[in-house]
Amino acid sequence: MERSITWFFLVYCCCCCCCCLASLSTDQSALLALKACITSDPQNMISTNWSTTTPVCNWVGVTCAARHLRVAVLNISYFGLAGTIPPELGNLSFLVDLQLTNNSFSGTLPVELARLRRLKLVSFGYNNFKGEIPSWFGSLPKLATIHLSGNQFTGSIPPAIFNISTLQVINMSKNKLSGSIPRAIRNLTMLKDLYLSYNNFEEFPTDIGTFDQLEILDLQFNSLKGHVPLSVFNMSSLITLSLSRNSLGGNLPDNICQHLPFIQGLYFDENQFDGALPSQLWQCKWLLVLLLFRNNFSGTIPRNIGNLTHLQDLALSDNKLTGTIPDEIGYLQNLKLEKASKSFDIECEMLSNVRHRNLIKIISSCNQSQFKALVLDYMPNGSLERLLYYEEYCSLNILERLNIMIDVASALEYLHHGYSVPIVHCDLKPSNILLDDDMVAHVADFGITKLLGGGDSMTETMTLATVGYMAPEYGMEGIVSRRGDVYSFGIVLMESFTKKKPTDEMFVGEMSLKRWVADSLLSDAIVRVVDANLLGKEEDHDFLNKRDCLSSIMRLALDCSAESANERISMQDAAITLHKIKNNFLKNIAAV
Ligand SMILES: *[C@@H]1O[C@H](CO)[C@@H](O)[C@H](O)[C@H]1NC(C)=O
Ligand SMILES: *[C@@H]1O[C@H](CO)[C@@H](O)[C@H](O)[C@H]1NC(C)=O
Ligand SMILES: *[C@@H]1O[C@H](CO)[C@@H](O)[C@H](O)[C@H]1NC(C)=O
Ligand SMILES: *[C@@H]1O[C@H](CO)[C@@H](O)[C@H](O)[C@H]1NC(C)=O
Ligand SMILES: *[C@@H]1O[C@H](CO)[C@@H](O)[C@H](O)[C@H]1NC(C)=O
Ligand SMILES: *[C@@H]1O[C@H](CO)[C@@H](O)[C@H](O)[C@H]1NC(C)=O
Ligand SMILES: *[C@@H]1O[C@H](CO)[C@@H](O)[C@H](O)[C@H]1NC(C)=O
Ligand SMILES: *[C@@H]1O[C@H](CO)[C@@H](O)[C@H](O)[C@H]1NC(C)=O
Ligand SMILES: *[C@@H]1O[C@H](CO)[C@@H](O)[C@H](O)[C@H]1NC(C)=O
Ligand SMILES: *[C@@H]1O[C@H](CO)[C@@H](O)[C@H](O)[C@H]1NC(C)=O
Ligand SMILES: *[C@@H]1O[C@H](CO)[C@@H](O)[C@H](O)[C@H]1NC(C)=O
Ligand SMILES: *[C@@H]1O[C@H](CO)[C@@H](O)[C@H](O)[C@H]1NC(C)=O
Repeated sequence: MERSITWFFLVYCCCCCCCCLASLSTDQSALLALKACITSDPQNMISTNWSTTTPVCNWVGVTCAARHLRVAVLNISYFGLAGTIPPELGNLSFLVDLQLTNNSFSGTLPVELARLRRLKLVSFGYNNFKGEIPSWFGSLPKLATIHLSGNQFTGSIPPAIFNISTLQVINMSKNKLSGSIPRAIRNLTMLKDLYLSYNNFEEFPTDIGTFDQLEILDLQFNSLKGHVPLSVFNMSSLITLSLSRNSLGGNLPDNICQHLPFIQGLYFDENQFDGALPSQLWQCKWLLVLLLFRNNFSGTIPRNIGNLTHLQDLALSDNKLTGTIPDEIGYLQNLKLEKASKSFDIECEMLSNVRHRNLIKIISSCNQSQFKALVLDYMPNGSLERLLYYEEYCSLNILERLNIMIDVASALEYLHHGYSVPIVHCDLKPSNILLDDDMVAHVADFGITKLLGGGDSMTETMTLATVGYMAPEYGMEGIVSRRGDVYSFGIVLMESFTKKKPTDEMFVGEMSLKRWVADSLLSDAIVRVVDANLLGKEEDHDFLNKRDCLSSIMRLALDCSAESANERISMQDAAITLHKIKNNFLKNIAAV
């Protein structure tokens, strides 16, 4: 008996191993076939690494499942590869995730990939794939996420896609898809995110259905006509509804928010909506962003939009609206204020008198426990955050960014030195820098602003601010001083010209935005850290002028964000230096 069990195990194990080996070698030949189809590998990611002398499971971008030692994940995103996809890739039969995001793969997607029946996630985003979206996607029974954005797919979405009942995320933005948004999409009842923006879709079927799970519906920058189907306003999980830049028209329903309890962003700008603004907008109580500009809305601005206590971004310009934005808007319910004291009234009073071209006008009305700051001017060009990161908008050149930062410097200089009592903003960051029609920047959000009554600093028991921008002594010890704002200013300055957030995932461990910029200055590699849109080509006649200007800006930014508060320069000096940098830049342009 014992013996037969031993035998059994021996035989079983042998078979099992052989079969694993055989199959892993299938995986290996599939990957080698892919390697053979790669025509360019500038970072040498695959060419040396994917070698038969090392086990497949150690190859870069490859992850094997521990249980059966077969390739489960192939993620070669951002490797900078060019080439085509071979049919052999369809032999990776245990593959669960396939990610090729942001390379330059081209050609068509081979039908053999339909054999990857375990696939849950595919991303072919940001490559050069062309032609129609293949209908074989429909035979991947477990697919949950499909990313095809940033390619050149044409035609309509194949109906077979709507047969995959497990789909939760569809991203087909930035292609050349056209026709109608298929009615069959209503079959995808598990859908959470649907991104079809930046295509040429024209029709929005009236019976698109109601998705209970849908959180993001992004259809901006298409050519959609007609009315928004009422069922859209019935999608009870929606958080973001983005319909910007289409040709949609008609009225918005009065009770638009009644069935959207979680909505945070309504983007209706640049369409042809008309009639009155929905009177029940106040029901969207979590609304952060409401963009209605460039439409044909008429009538008055309903007072009760003042009840939208979380609103951060409101744009109503270019309509036929009359009246003013109600006082209550942007009402800040204070962010647990401990001291409901007399001095608080004085602070409120003072803040309400602060006036500067580069500060958002604040009128505060204070009573014991509340501080209301209200925004009177609306800023059609949104925030610096929006300008930097919403791709379609980030065409800001060096001079425009310099002007914005000079405005910010003037605002802070005024707060710090232009008033009887120094005022510390405490929360400077790109989303608090708003731009008006003329691209003049205005610093906003005085929710946690502090007045320095006596002395150069004070200590707070509770620090609120934003990670990445807050000075170390403020974050760790609660020390509020003007130098803390100077630190944040330095970080925002770096961010504005590198287009990298201090919280970017590349900054881990020792590496921070500051360190990265400082290293680049030491090694004369500024070109590698600044936003690539800014510099142009090395042979351009103005390249050197731009490079020198950017180096000076980065040096200033580092002087502002020195780790130790005592080593930081003052806001006055920062503003003067920035002006000088701009003048030099202009002088050299004129000289070329
Ligand atoms: C391939 O890359 C992986 C991950 O970077 C690394 O661990 C491995 O040593 C590399 N192998 C070879 C042969 O270069
Ligand atoms: C795939 O690789 C990219 C780049 O290395 C990485 O950012 C991304 O998180 C990876 N995806 C997954 C699901 O691990
Ligand atoms: C893998 O796929 C290719 C093409 O689809 C096929 O010719 C080959 O026989 C398959 N099997 C193995 C074990 O490589
Ligand atoms: C794709 O990668 C390139 C560099 O290869 C980068 O410039 C670009 O921003 C990336 N695009 C996206 C959408 O990540
Ligand atoms: C959807 O799936 C059903 C059953 O699996 C099949 O009969 C039908 O042809 C599929 N529809 C499309 C459009 O692929
Ligand atoms: C959508 O679902 C209906 C009913 O379940 C089914 O008859 C139809 O074939 C499905 N359409 C697609 C394209 O899968
Ligand atoms: C979907 O694609 C858009 C680009 O069109 C991109 O900005 C967005 O981050 C993608 N969404 C996800 C969840 O990756
Ligand atoms: C919205 O949903 C309710 C029930 O939740 C339903 O009675 C109503 O007909 C729906 N309206 C539309 C336009 O889908
Ligand atoms: C706006 O409404 C007026 C009539 O009130 C109409 O003449 C005009 O064409 C509309 N404009 C747009 C862009 O729909
Ligand atoms: C909305 O605000 C008004 C004052 O503008 C107030 O009278 C009304 O009670 C508020 N409604 C709700 C539902 O909060
Ligand atoms: C003071 O607060 C109360 C509610 O706490 C509010 O009803 C009243 O309008 C406030 N007064 C002023 C002047 O804002
Ligand atoms: C700023 O707003 C003006 C007027 O609304 C517009 O012409 C301009 O294109 C906007 N600029 C940016 C960068 O969005």
